Amino acid sequence: MTGQSKFRRYLVDINSTSTNQLFTDCLIIGAGIAGLRAAIEAANNCNIIIVAKYKLQDSNTFKAQGGIASVLNESDTFQSHINDTLKTGCGLCDEKIVDLVIHQGPELIEQLLSWGADFDMVDNHIATTIEGGHSHPRVAHAHGDKTGAIIVENLINKIKQSPNIKVIENFFAVDLLTNDSGDCLGIIGHNAAKGRQIIWAANTILATGGGGKLYRETTNPDVATADGIAMAYRAGAHLLDLEFMQFHPTTLYIAGASRALITETLRGEGAILRDKNGNDFMKKYHEDAELAPRDIVSRAILSQMLETDSTHVYLDIRHFDKKHFAKRFPVINELCENFDINISKEMIPVRPSAHYMIGGVKTDDTAKTNIKNLYACGEVASTGLHGANRLGSNSLLEGLVFGKIAGRYASKHKNADASHLKHPLIKYQTPHSDRTRLDSVDVTNSLRALMWRNVGITRKAKPLAEAQVIIKFWQRYVMDKVFDSLQGWQCQNMLTVCLLMAQAAQKRRESRGVHFRSDFPETDDKHFKKHIELIRR
Ligand code: FUM
Repeated sequence: MTGQSKFRRYLVDINSTSTNQLFTDCLIIGAGIAGLRAAIEAANNCNIIIVAKYKLQDSNTFKAQGGIASVLNESDTFQSHINDTLKTGCGLCDEKIVDLVIHQGPELIEQLLSWGADFDMVDNHIATTIEGGHSHPRVAHAHGDKTGAIIVENLINKIKQSPNIKVIENFFAVDLLTNDSGDCLGIIGHNAAKGRQIIWAANTILATGGGGKLYRETTNPDVATADGIAMAYRAGAHLLDLEFMQFHPTTLYIAGASRALITETLRGEGAILRDKNGNDFMKKYHEDAELAPRDIVSRAILSQMLETDSTHVYLDIRHFDKKHFAKRFPVINELCENFDINISKEMIPVRPSAHYMIGGVKTDDTAKTNIKNLYACGEVASTGLHGANRLGSNSLLEGLVFGKIAGRYASKHKNADASHLKHPLIKYQTPHSDRTRLDSVDVTNSLRALMWRNVGITRKAKPLAEAQVIIKFWQRYVMDKVFDSLQGWQCQNMLTVCLLMAQAAQKRRESRGVHFRSDFPETDDKHFKKHIELIRR
């Protein structure tokens, strides 16, 4: 499937002879849990450069609250975690991958603990809580709802101890470089301190995260603009399941405030959803009420908003012990205090928003993509773990397990093809168009609003088709430009990925997991129990 207007292989002109160059055995793009864990693993075998778009701490992982899911209690079993993952994935999980990730979880979490990650403990064991879709408490957390931050700081400490790892912050990876055979050679990017740079690498690991920022309403930080998916697509990587965008039911909804995540573990520990009239409504939609799968809770909230003519609903934690809450959920406690919400007397205004990209760059069980020397892990990858719906807190687990796998395989074959390091001359020039002056930030904002309206929680044919027409129109005058700024490149990446998402969502003429089509509300196993693969032609 194509449909991209005026397709360009690279977003910038390239002349490899006159560009500042760096060399490494293994290049890692992205510094969430998957990228950092990959670096630690690969550093056992070779030299690493890890590039981060902003600071190392600017990742979705850092913001993760709820936790990391794994079998950590004696009462729990691998089979139960596997069953919950498969059930949530609605028939599209790869069972081999589910088995692999779930079995490796406990050991890798214990390893984090041994490296100093300060998980919350009870009776000398890692404390666990529950989220929707899990039949046992198996979500480990750290410093209450600061789980992601604690894990990231732990991995950064570990990275600092390795002489083999060089970190470059504020580096925007513009494009993957490939040779005539299509093999990956590294990247061209923009280093805020040094300008345009090429990093040649024997192997490259994409760990760039997802694309929550493709939507106006999102829990995600600014970093999440799907750059990795766009650059992989331009380079010829196969993409899977881009229609599966997971929406988180409860995001803080206060005009002017950033749409901060309000963790699902709050509902796991007793928070109640109420509409503006104070009615709890979840039982009406699902027997598991507040702990029903996320897609069901998100759609239930939307229905209730419509029924009560409201822009949001509320999370009620007035019955929580205030002191315990402040200790167990310090991030949300501070957020509420900042907005003068007295949680003992008032409810927290929330609504759903885009949270996690289930689809991504297709990989195998060694994190390899179809492009030679290119690996992918974390949210940018589609490993087959999540199927059509992700079980809460399975993504940090996936990042940890596949980060390690990607690091191992990408460093193992560093000398497999020495000729690969005889860097070819790459010259690429695109006709520069100045026919319009462009405010790329304005285009980006309009795009995010369009995605929210037309490719959001509930989809149907006409708005999906309309979104494609509009995006293609915007592409006509955005994709012919050669930008020299992060905003411009991001805008081009976002237009690329949004079009693919709308196309995939249109193609899947059924409802499954997080993808709900009001014009095809049933699951249609006969025609759609399969992945939708997108390949640039
Ligand atoms: O609600 C949460 O804390 C989110 C967890 C997740 O997306 O895995």
